[in-house]
Amino acid sequence: MSFEVRTVKDLDEFSSAVFAIGQYFGLTPTEERMQRFLDQITAERMHAAWSNGSIVGGAGAFKFNLSVPGGDLPTAGVTVVGVYPTHRRRGVLRSLMRAQVDDAHERGEPLAALWASEETIYGRYGYGLASFCGEIKLAHEYTSFAQPFEPEGTIRFLEPEEARDAVPPVYERVRQLWPGMFSRSPLWWEHREIKDPEERREGAGPKRWVVYERDGSIDAYACYRHKPGWDEGSTVAQLQIVEALAATPTAERDLWAYLLSIDWKATVHAYLLPPDHALFLLLATPRRMRYRMGDSLWVRLVDVGAALSGRKYSAEGAVVFDVHDEFCPWNEGRWKLEDGAAARTDDDADIALSAQSLGSAYLGGVPFAALARAGRAEELKDGALTRADGLFRWDRHPWCPEIF
Ligand SMILES: CC(C)(COP(=O)(O)OP(=O)(O)OC[C@H]1O[C@@H](n2cnc3c(N)ncnc32)[C@H](O)[C@@H]1OP(=O)(O)O)[C@@H](O)C(=O)NCCC(=O)NCCS
Repeated sequence: MSFEVRTVKDLDEFSSAVFAIGQYFGLTPTEERMQRFLDQITAERMHAAWSNGSIVGGAGAFKFNLSVPGGDLPTAGVTVVGVYPTHRRRGVLRSLMRAQVDDAHERGEPLAALWASEETIYGRYGYGLASFCGEIKLAHEYTSFAQPFEPEGTIRFLEPEEARDAVPPVYERVRQLWPGMFSRSPLWWEHREIKDPEERREGAGPKRWVVYERDGSIDAYACYRHKPGWDEGSTVAQLQIVEALAATPTAERDLWAYLLSIDWKATVHAYLLPPDHALFLLLATPRRMRYRMGDSLWVRLVDVGAALSGRKYSAEGAVVFDVHDEFCPWNEGRWKLEDGAAARTDDDADIALSAQSLGSAYLGGVPFAALARAGRAEELKDGALTRADGLFRWDRHPWCPEIF
């Protein structure tokens, strides 16, 4: 079955397209909320599918940059993908994915990235699982650090209006260190971070903002909520960390020391933490965090040549990939990566793999050797996997601290 797919032209069309997924979230599509969302995504980046004159599905893409190892690339931040339950499994999603990736390609965006509601959906369109993250529930009794230390800086509360100016520069500093973080526009900061409507609190209190200062520089910040509660006279309060980011190791240690020392909580809840988060080595009993890991970013190389040339590598050397990419045939074939740049080649390939697998390896979070062990990449020359892993590895696991 074919559908007409095009971008939306006004708030009404936008709302119907977003409500394709919105209904699964139990969303009430108020005009104010839809307008706010439209301002962020923009109509020209929101595709809808029509059947018999009605919208039956939608898919949007934020325009932002994603930090990649040693670089920062324009990326289609895929979001609000949904199909009305009346039209599922008839190819609506496929039509939307087709239009969306062609659009990103025409705009010259080398990457597309997303968070998946289910792991089974996006692999067929070339998205590879590129990073992992996890949540913690740490009991107050187990917040001791492994090594004694004296904090070297100070913590200060900010009003949300002050955070609007003070916090974004720290976020940008952290983004330069960590692959996987997307750039936030002033509009994003305003609507997604600073604004704190009651409906987003889920029974917890308002956002509290703190910054950490050392030698006159703001090196870290945290945003958190208190969720008070009592059970048989004892506190069961949660401290919910919305985001805690630090631009230096000392700041990271001191910021978490502050957060974990806050009184009257029974547990600290934090989400979307990378598997190499500093807390694993800072805490005396990291097992008590009960870290539960799942998938984080899924990455699609829209343009293999530009994407591979747009990041830095951890070693010298060359590797030739034979890329299979049915969905984006312009990527199909052999690519040689040498001296940090990728180009078409007739050389024999070292590794054969799908665009999906290359998307998994791209940010340095999933080794080629692991892909090969799972039957998702094939080593065509001895030692090629080790060589490729030497190039692609990075000193940090890719981290996306917010779902978009
Ligand atoms: C996921 C969703 C968008 C799929 O839309 P759809 O129009 O039914 O998908 P299509 O008919 O285009 O299916 C394309 C392919 O994906 C498969 N597929 C789609 N959704 C799937 C799912 N949830 N699990 C497993 N496979 C799925 C189809 O079987 C089909 O496979 P094929 O190409 O091998 O035949 C739709 O079910 C939906 O809106 N779900 C709820 C909201 C949601 O999860 N959105 C994603 C947010 S990240």
